[in-house]
Amino acid sequence: MENKNYRFETEAIHSGYHSDEHKGSLVPPLYQTSTFTFSSAEQGERRFAGQEEGFIYSRLGNPTVKVLEDRMAHLERGEAGLAFSSGMAAVSAVLTALTKTGDHILCSQGVYSSTFGLLELLKSKYNIDHDFSAMTSSETLENELRPNTSCIYIETPINPTMQLVDLEMAASVAKQRGIPVVVDNTFCSPYLQTPISHGCDIVIHSATKYICGHGDVIAGLVIGTSEFIKRVAKTTQKDFGGTISPFDAWLLLRGLKTLPVRMDRHCENASMLVEYLKTHPKVETLYFPGFSDYENDTKIMHKQMKKPGGLISFTIKGTKETAQLFMNHLRLIKIAVSLGDAETLIQHPATMTHAVVPKEERRKMGIEDTLLRLSVGLEAWEDIKEDLEQALQNI
Ligand SMILES: Cc1ncc(COP(=O)(O)O)c(C=O)c1O
Repeated sequence: MENKNYRFETEAIHSGYHSDEHKGSLVPPLYQTSTFTFSSAEQGERRFAGQEEGFIYSRLGNPTVKVLEDRMAHLERGEAGLAFSSGMAAVSAVLTALTKTGDHILCSQGVYSSTFGLLELLKSKYNIDHDFSAMTSSETLENELRPNTSCIYIETPINPTMQLVDLEMAASVAKQRGIPVVVDNTFCSPYLQTPISHGCDIVIHSATKYICGHGDVIAGLVIGTSEFIKRVAKTTQKDFGGTISPFDAWLLLRGLKTLPVRMDRHCENASMLVEYLKTHPKVETLYFPGFSDYENDTKIMHKQMKKPGGLISFTIKGTKETAQLFMNHLRLIKIAVSLGDAETLIQHPATMTHAVVPKEERRKMGIEDTLLRLSVGLEAWEDIKEDLEQALQNI
């Protein structure tokens, strides 16, 4: 692709790929190989010594994977990207690269449950402590930083309560302290939000979700400066080994081409369903970016997000059993964790994604027993609404 800045929709299809380097193949070829041959022993020596560009072994790099990494770096406005075998492989490679024993991580009020598990593990095994912060203003954020805080870790919107964190505010506080801001951008994808363009340093994705979009891959991505990505590639990725398979990278490249089209539809469907759910007598509280009463959220949303996204959380009036009964009455909507797929999915965070988080911590994160999270799919929104309607009538 020529050196011109195209619009997001065009970059999602073309960036990072030059067909003339691949015998004219329109689609990036799948290099399904574990290793690469050297033309001589000396060439092998030069490649290992870093004196010659070229592939060595697919845990250290692969041409199909490289197209994905370059494309995602472009879309996220970063310098370089790195692909992983799962979102959690990406999170753990980043956090272990940024910390050492005795450090502290300051996190947004809620994080994905396995990220929570990883933080607990880092604390118990390596004495790397963490705290959760509401991050509502620069003053509160500054006060919660410790002398040994080595990074700020943010999810926005926060899973599953959809609270937002002001990325520019967090980045400006972190800059003064000279520490990096890491953002898990899974819920938005780069189509809705690009944290690096708001001053943040590192972006993580569970590519399993919107980047893939078809529910058939588990993968992760990290985007940052060339220096940081090189460091992770040569240490916590290479030696822990959470590398993506070339076939999964190839599927992600296919998914990425339709990301803008899919995201528009996810967002459109979600907005229609919010309109329906917000006045329903059996729905107690609705959580949707820009809709909830969180202070400043609407302002933050307009500042950093293109649209509110495709995820809706809501509490049902009643008990945990009422919420489960409602789920069991659904016919079209599938009961499953994950998000960002063509199929609309519903899950019960208290007993599913966040079951490992102790009840008291869950309460602080706003995860009640009647809370449900809906990942709005690409079906006709009227069909999704009718399914919600009949299930609500049955409780
Ligand atoms: C916000 C967020 N981050 C990270 C992850 C972990 O990703 P993976 O399941 O691909 O390891 C998830 C998974 O649901 C997630 O929702």
